[in-house]
Amino acid sequence: MTRRKGIILAGGTGSRLWPITQGVSKQLMPVYDKPMIYYPLSVLMLAGIREIAVITTPEDQAQFQRLLGDGRQWGLALEWIVQARPEGLAQAYLLADSFLNGASSAMVLGDNIFFGHGLPEIMATADSRTGGTVFGYRVRDPERYGVVAFSAAGEVREIVEKPAQPPSNYAVTGLYFLDSSAPERARAVQPSERGELEIADLLESYRRDGALHVELMGRGYAWLDTGTHASLLDAGNFVRTLQDRQGTQVGCPEEIAFRNRWITPDDLNQRARIYDKTGYGAYLRGLLDEARA
Ligand code: TTP
Repeated sequence: MTRRKGIILAGGTGSRLWPITQGVSKQLMPVYDKPMIYYPLSVLMLAGIREIAVITTPEDQAQFQRLLGDGRQWGLALEWIVQARPEGLAQAYLLADSFLNGASSAMVLGDNIFFGHGLPEIMATADSRTGGTVFGYRVRDPERYGVVAFSAAGEVREIVEKPAQPPSNYAVTGLYFLDSSAPERARAVQPSERGELEIADLLESYRRDGALHVELMGRGYAWLDTGTHASLLDAGNFVRTLQDRQGTQVGCPEEIAFRNRWITPDDLNQRARIYDKTGYGAYLRGLLDEARA
């Protein structure tokens, strides 16, 4: 069991999804049959993390709380933190400083979806390392992301934010395993030209100290972001295709909690009853039947 604490960064403006996200947070949008935040939440749970802070805008916090509660239904302890203005990803570590209370962390962006066999294992590797670990993923259009520049020896030379001339095709995904020095390092980050505390600058602080690892996610993984209308629809279709074909759920917190024995069969049964009228409820009942067989 890891001692790492989790952070889900679910604030932001979502302006690329307007008008849809003018009234509702992006991370509450459906990705096929679940709210978007279920997917990054499930990723942290797959890493064995049970203490999780959810960072939202002040306006959206109540809606997230209505959906997720205190996390007890999944054997989790959720804490709530407000980000007053979207002043950058690295700001999360300043806001979460007292929640972390000296612990190392895994932070995931609320609009990132990860899927792949072996995901728990690569996160366990990241968990066991000192310093910081980020995950590189090959994309066709790296100029939209933070991009990893490698040295000839395959070491990380630099992470460049949205480069016009990308040094590689490897984007840095929205999942960061950082040690307990992250808040202190974040305090030294200066706002960029766009007025944000950039995660690239925080990661650069680790790299300068020789403490940044990049773990590559190979072809067997899907990393989807959901920040535009087309990518949101693509992500929904991806989840639907997998679920329909395999008969298993992507991003089901009840399933992970049950398999990790964080909740009992009785707890799972109660959850199944809430969702009686849906395929989700039937799936949870199926998990119970399978466990009893
Ligand atoms: P972005 O997609 O960069 O920004 P956004 O969600 O505000 O959307 P848009 O660009 O369309 O206006 O954010 C990535 C993720 O990080 C997303 O889940 C929102 C979150 N985020 C915060 O919570 N706080 C922040 O200060 C920023 C910049 C992003």
